[in-house]
Amino acid sequence: MTKDPAKKYRLLLRLNNAIISQYEREGLFHMIAGEISSIVPYDRFSINLYNAETEELTYFAVAAGVSPEGISEKTRPLRNGSVAQRVILNRKEVVVHDLSQDNDLETAQFMRDAGLNATFAYPMIVRGKVLGSIHFSFKTLPPDAGEVQDFLRDLCVQLSLAIDNMLSYEQLQKTIRSLDRERAYLIDEESSLQYSRERFFYVSQPMISIMKQIERIASTEASVLITGETGTGKDHIARIIHSLSPRRRHLFVKVNCAALSPQLIESELFGHAKGAYTGANVRRIGRFELADKGTIFLDEIGEIPMHTQAKLLQALQEKSFERVGESRTISVDFRVIAATNQHLEDNIRDKTFRKDLYYRLNTIPLHIPPLRERKDDISLLVKCFSTAFAKKLHKAPIQISRSGMDALLNYTWPGNVRELENVIERLAIINEGESLTERHIAALLHPAPTAVENNVVVQTREEAERQLILDALRKSNGMVGGSNGAARLLGMKRTTLQYRMKKLGIELFRFRSSS
Ligand SMILES: Nc1ncnc2c1ncn2[C@@H]1O[C@H](COP(=O)(O)OP(=O)(O)OP(=O)(O)O)[C@@H](O)[C@H]1O
Ligand SMILES: [Mg+2]
Repeated sequence: MTKDPAKKYRLLLRLNNAIISQYEREGLFHMIAGEISSIVPYDRFSINLYNAETEELTYFAVAAGVSPEGISEKTRPLRNGSVAQRVILNRKEVVVHDLSQDNDLETAQFMRDAGLNATFAYPMIVRGKVLGSIHFSFKTLPPDAGEVQDFLRDLCVQLSLAIDNMLSYEQLQKTIRSLDRERAYLIDEESSLQYSRERFFYVSQPMISIMKQIERIASTEASVLITGETGTGKDHIARIIHSLSPRRRHLFVKVNCAALSPQLIESELFGHAKGAYTGANVRRIGRFELADKGTIFLDEIGEIPMHTQAKLLQALQEKSFERVGESRTISVDFRVIAATNQHLEDNIRDKTFRKDLYYRLNTIPLHIPPLRERKDDISLLVKCFSTAFAKKLHKAPIQISRSGMDALLNYTWPGNVRELENVIERLAIINEGESLTERHIAALLHPAPTAVENNVVVQTREEAERQLILDALRKSNGMVGGSNGAARLLGMKRTTLQYRMKKLGIELFRFRSSS
């Protein structure tokens, strides 16, 4: 080794430079390894990170120089009788001038087989914690071994700080990435303000008892299955449960099982490895991971394909799963709320829904009755929505005549609260200050299905639904979404309507006027 102190000094400066300029492990290690070898001509240089929990060693980066068999695995147990074990457990450097003379060292043979005869190893200790060990090995013991030993000791103090720095940087990057993901998710999510508890209105007996039950169960970990027709408030209620639960400071993550193709649903739920399937260009975490410490809301659970149900059930039971294309098990702390407008018992009978999954989800069943079964809520909702839209449109609230109110109360509301909200919005828009009568209102409501087809005496639910949808599509000229679309007319979400159309075999092209 050089006797020139200026050279050593310059090395330290260059190392500092490497530490500041490198953001990747391999880059940092490569630069350090190169700089040191110009002063201390080692034959092997490696840095081990130690995980005290699992008692394992992992190479910080691929070692430089000779690579002996038996210690080449990236992550391996901290072996008895290894140099690293002595260094880490005693928190002291270990220097062996002649590996053939140390009979207690079980790993010495691996090194000797690779031609290494001497080794210098130092602990990496930062703020009292052992991060791992740094090793320099030689085929021939350097003639000035004592000096080399002292020099490397000083150097390792510097290196430990650099490694610690890099690990903190990596941790920070990981946190930033997960915050980014949460941010992207939240921006994507429909405004959750709309779904606050303050904006949920009810006076009817059935709703009062449901809300009481929600207050009781919110703090538990039990799975909740919310059933009810479209637009009855299932989403809204799921969010209220989350907001009243101890998990409220974490995410409420919604998965719409009907909106995802059967091929993609697993990777959406559980995440996937890079290259797990065509198009999977990057590794992605799934909705379950995003919901860690929070609530996962499985909407339209009746639509989940059979082949995903087994994996879902297992994830719910074990609170752990594997990403698609990966074998590592990931544990996540979540609470599950599911919702559906289907009768899952029918699906079980048809063998499209697993019974065991149903029981797992249905720990606490909440059935939200349709609006026509809780007419008391209608007048309150009309009042609350009127006030809200008046404020939004900077107009006076709408006035509804006695006959107008009767029309609203007697209507069957196939789209429930969502449809009512849409009707009030449209009334608020056309409102010119006059009292709105049955005539104004009837124009916005859909005639009862039997009235559409007078010759049909009894209709099944499906037929009735088909008529309603066909009727709306005719009116909208085949437009599904948008402000004049059929979904809007029916008071349904676009995705729900598309899904129902698919189920009923209704094709769009027939409605588009050929212009
Ligand atoms: N009691 C209520 N008070 C105020 N707003 C309500 C109430 N119930 C439902 N809503 C509103 O009606 C709309 C539909 O509710 P939500 O999306 O929760 O229904 P859903 O049962 O999930 O419907 P779908 O089956 O179509 O998914 C939302 O805008 C929601 O805020
Ligand atoms: Mg919903």
